[in-house]
Amino acid sequence: MGQAITIYSSKGGVGKTTLASNMGASLAKQGFKTLIIDTDPQNSIAGVLGLELSNGLSELLNYSAKFEDVVIKTRDGFDFIPAGVEANRDTLEYTQLLQDEPYFVKESVIEEFGHLYDFIIFDTPPGFNPMANSAMLASNIILGLLEADPTSYATLDLMESILSKIRDANEKEILFVINLVDIDDVSVDFEKLLKFVFEDRYLFSLPYDSNVKKAIANCESIYTNYPESPYAVMLDEMMKIFLEKIGDM
Ligand SMILES: Nc1ncnc2c1ncn2[C@@H]1O[C@H](COP(=O)(O)OP(=O)(O)OP(=O)(O)O)[C@@H](O)[C@H]1O
Ligand SMILES: [Mg+2]
Repeated sequence: MGQAITIYSSKGGVGKTTLASNMGASLAKQGFKTLIIDTDPQNSIAGVLGLELSNGLSELLNYSAKFEDVVIKTRDGFDFIPAGVEANRDTLEYTQLLQDEPYFVKESVIEEFGHLYDFIIFDTPPGFNPMANSAMLASNIILGLLEADPTSYATLDLMESILSKIRDANEKEILFVINLVDIDDVSVDFEKLLKFVFEDRYLFSLPYDSNVKKAIANCESIYTNYPESPYAVMLDEMMKIFLEKIGDM
């Protein structure tokens, strides 16, 4: 059974989808069999990969498609299951189904097909909701992502209280990643503060890098055209530390 990882944040727009897709590319280029599952009805991962809306998790949930029908092989070497057409068309129904069946993802996806992969990464919509809950229940590792800025820092208490409840109920490993650190501004102060709060739960800080948006605009991972960029180099470093850390768990 592979490692299942949820990328979670209380605040929106902190870089979860960017991290999930580039982590997938990083793991795939290291030879790991990797699956990304997008639980976000925004279908953002399909967007950053430049893919049309297609069947995915929402069609598994309403039993209108099978696992093998919704898995997409990406150019970056990882497999991908989008949130799906129904998730986008009727988000209320999709959310309700996940709320009614919070263990669907764990039991019908991870326990059935997890053996096919070394890593499964869940992208989630921001905040605590049935999508994030289902992903976290199906994961053994949660990566909490924060932006090194005052508005993200302001969500820290909320994030801590949700994640500690999840951890205590299910014995998950929770690690924190800080994104968008810019050495030229106040974000470095927030980075210091967050590192201090997280202590040994701190995993890594990723830099602000204008190449990130350029790569997304081309529907490519950061490694395709910007392998020497700060984000790519630091993400490689982060993945090294992450793999060592989970090897010791
Ligand atoms: N390290 C970075 N440097 C520069 N830009 C970044 C970085 N990380 C993310 N971004 C940019 O920030 C924006 C938001 O990123 P992203 O969509 O990944 O956030 P998100 O947390 O998934 O948002 P949502 O909560 O809506 O799902 C995007 O335009 C992305 O390109
Ligand atoms: Mg996103």
